[in-house]
Amino acid sequence: MKQMIIEGNHKLSGTITIGGAKNSAVALIPASILSEGICTIKDVPNISDRDALIEILTLLNCEVKINDNELIIDSRNLKNTQIKESLSNRLRASYYFMGALLGREKYVEIYIPGGCNIGSRPIDMHIEGFKALGAKIKTDGNKYILSADKLIGTDIFLRFQSVGATINLMLASIHAEGTTIIHNAACEAEIINIAEFLNNMGANITGAGTSTITIKGTTKHHDASITVIPDRIEAGTYIILGALCGDNLCIKNICPKHLKSLTTKLKEMGANLIINKDNIIISSTNNLKPINIKTLVYPGFPTDIGQPMSVLLTQANGTSLFEETIWENRMGHVPSLNKMGAKIKVNGMSALIEGPTKLKGTTVIATDLRGGAALVIAGLIAEGTTIITDVEHILRGYENIITKLTQVGAKIELKEI
Ligand code: EPZ
Repeated sequence: MKQMIIEGNHKLSGTITIGGAKNSAVALIPASILSEGICTIKDVPNISDRDALIEILTLLNCEVKINDNELIIDSRNLKNTQIKESLSNRLRASYYFMGALLGREKYVEIYIPGGCNIGSRPIDMHIEGFKALGAKIKTDGNKYILSADKLIGTDIFLRFQSVGATINLMLASIHAEGTTIIHNAACEAEIINIAEFLNNMGANITGAGTSTITIKGTTKHHDASITVIPDRIEAGTYIILGALCGDNLCIKNICPKHLKSLTTKLKEMGANLIINKDNIIISSTNNLKPINIKTLVYPGFPTDIGQPMSVLLTQANGTSLFEETIWENRMGHVPSLNKMGAKIKVNGMSALIEGPTKLKGTTVIATDLRGGAALVIAGLIAEGTTIITDVEHILRGYENIITKLTQVGAKIELKEI
């Protein structure tokens, strides 16, 4: 078990360099097996989700070389085997092995995925999509067994623009006979990154980044490489931190287009930011206006930045409304923020946030990844010392968070207990 100890109330200045996007990397790693060759993935963040996926690849007899942030994955000698529960439930993205193995091997045995406790997280759209492509699905307790003689392209309509279902169905259908069209597909930047990788290995995917994705089945796939896009959620987290305690804090290696919904809201609040081609420079101000935030699918305000943003709203001059629309349990961090002195009233999936409130250090619990990141921000602006427990959630998604924050002047350390 690890704890983070933060001494708050220090100005942060200097540069934080953003790594590759977790939610892209965790799909690109399983996707690599579809090449049936050797793939290179650059800018993979060094997070515990990466390590869990590498363990699954190793279990499948793939060879993985790690050179800093580059992974070289050789899946030529893949041996299909059951992915055990202790591995699949370590993270959400283990479910991308469903689409990837079904596509390549036409057979998968895998247990239900894990991931943050932010909602019920069903995978019915993934399963319905696999069935539409011709797969047979059996369950045995927590285990899914997916099999198919062959996969045949078809029209798939998603009832919601699910990121995971869109990616999983792209993975399964590149080897299918004929054409698959995913309607009401998710449009996240990560989906474009995955489609580009699959196309680099010989797939024929068009429309990624729009709500209609067309996949023409192809039989020959080959070695490929890809660079993971910058992590817009990691960037968003540090930009929000800069709006609270930055002194010309530079957040580097970002794609401003992917952060438009956040920067638009920050400007509406009166935050002090300069947006450049691949970086944002941000300083704190005492004149933040209250605003309303409603999380939506891309390009709307990202659900994954909602919790960090709620900390910024505790420092606005007035009452803000934060509405979550994707996950039922996005307010797990609120009791901790209120314990630190925030005035937040939760009503179902919405919260009224009164500001400005002085935050004071105390012991708080990270209940999930982004909720944990919100507590790191709160600790860094609070008076006194904040102890965050259960920080494994945070370490799953933020590469080198202690080093990155220490380098810009934060007093933060990780303690094994
Ligand atoms: C991805 O989760 C991300 N995870 C999440 O990030 C992110 O919050 C989410 O997309 C939305 O942007 C990864 O990429 C690994 P969805 P995913 O399928 O794919 C419902 C983080 O903090 N749904 O788009 O699981 C679901 O319950 C994580 O980095 C079904 O009903 O999200 C939710 O309400 C947390 N049936 C909504 O759709 C399904 O079959 C969106 O889920 C699938 C989803």
